[in-house]
Amino acid sequence: MEKKNMDWENIGFGYRKTDKRYVSEYKGGRWDKGLLTSDANVVLNECAGILQYCQEIFEGLKAYTAKDGSIVTFRPDLNAERMMDSARGMEMPPFPKEKFLEAVDQVVTANISWVPPYGTGASLYLRPYMFATGPVIGVKPSDEYQFRLICTPVGPYFKGGARPLTLCVSDYDRAAPRGTGHLKAGLNYAMSLHAYVTAHDAGFDENMFLDPVTHTYVEETGGANFLFVTKDNEIVTPESNTILPSITRRSMLYVAEHYLGLKVTERPVRLSELPDFAECGLCGTAAVISPVGKVVDHGKEICFASGMEKMGPVIQQLYDLLTGIQLGTTEAPEGWIRKIIDKDQIF
Ligand code: PLP
Ligand code: COI
Repeated sequence: MEKKNMDWENIGFGYRKTDKRYVSEYKGGRWDKGLLTSDANVVLNECAGILQYCQEIFEGLKAYTAKDGSIVTFRPDLNAERMMDSARGMEMPPFPKEKFLEAVDQVVTANISWVPPYGTGASLYLRPYMFATGPVIGVKPSDEYQFRLICTPVGPYFKGGARPLTLCVSDYDRAAPRGTGHLKAGLNYAMSLHAYVTAHDAGFDENMFLDPVTHTYVEETGGANFLFVTKDNEIVTPESNTILPSITRRSMLYVAEHYLGLKVTERPVRLSELPDFAECGLCGTAAVISPVGKVVDHGKEICFASGMEKMGPVIQQLYDLLTGIQLGTTEAPEGWIRKIIDKDQIF
C-alpha cells in the first residue's frame, strides 16, 4: 500500500479528509451493526439534539507506525471505557467497548496509506464521537444518536514541537463544580473557547484553569492535564473531580513509578506552590507531554527551573519512555499496545 505523498515531518495538527470513516446509528433502543463510508458529510434534522442542547461526547487516540513496521494503537480500551462513562454522564447510550475497538481497527486498516511512517514524529489521530441526531425541542435527551470515528494524520499539537510553552492563569472557569468537567463532552470545549482566544490574543500558548470554587488550586488546560516535577525529582499531579482523567497522565505516572522508580503523588496542587516545582508539563494524546517554561499569573511571572529553551530532564525522560512504548522501541506494560496491522501484512 502506497503512503500518501506528504511532508510528514511538517503536517501540523489539523483536519485532513481521509478515505474512510466508521458510522453506527442508534435507533429504536439499539446500535446498528455499523459500516465504513467514504461520505464525510453528516445530514441532520434541523431539531437534532446536538444542534439544540449540545448532546455530544468524543474521544481522542492515535495510531502509530512502530519501529518494526506494524501499526499499533495505545490503550484504546481506556478510551472506549471513558467514552462509555461520558455517555452515561450525558444521558446517551454507551457505545459498547468491543464495537469501539472494532471501529478503531476498521478505520485504521481502511486508511492505512494515511498512517504516517515511523520516525516522522507524526501519527494518525483518531477521533471517535457521538451526537444526538433525534429531534428534541423540550429539554430532554434525544432518542437517536450517531457514533462516528474519523481519522486525520497529525504532527505536534503545539507549534514548534518541544518548545517550552507560556501559560496564563485564566480568569475564566472551564468546568462547574459537580458539572461535566470530568467528561469528554464537546460543551466543555465550547465553554473554553473564549478563554482560549483571549489568552492567545494576549500572546499566551494556553490557559491554566483553576478550581471553579476557590480559584486557588490548579486544574488543567483546555486540552491537557498538568504534571509537575519537584526539585527532589518527585512527580506531582493535580487531583480534582472537575478535570478529565487523562489516559496519558495515568500512563506517565505508571512509567515514572515503574520505569524510573520515582515517587508519584496525586493531590490538590495550590497555585501558590508553583514556584516550588522544577519542571512542568502538559499531558494528553495530542500534547503527548509538552513542557511548560512559564506561567503568568496576572502579570506575576512564575518561571520553572527547566527554562524556556528545552524540556527539563525528567519530563524528557518521561517523553522518551512513553513515545518509545508507543513506537515499540521500549517494552510496553502488558496490554498497553493493540496491534492492528502486523508488519507482514503491509506491502
Ligand atoms: N484534559 C482535557 C481537557 C483534554 O481534552 C484531554 C485530551 O484528551 C486531556 C486532558 C488528556 O487526556 P488523554 O491523555 O486521555 O488524551
Ligand atoms: C486529545 O488530546 O486527544 C484531545 O482531545 C485534546 C484536544 C485539545 C485535541
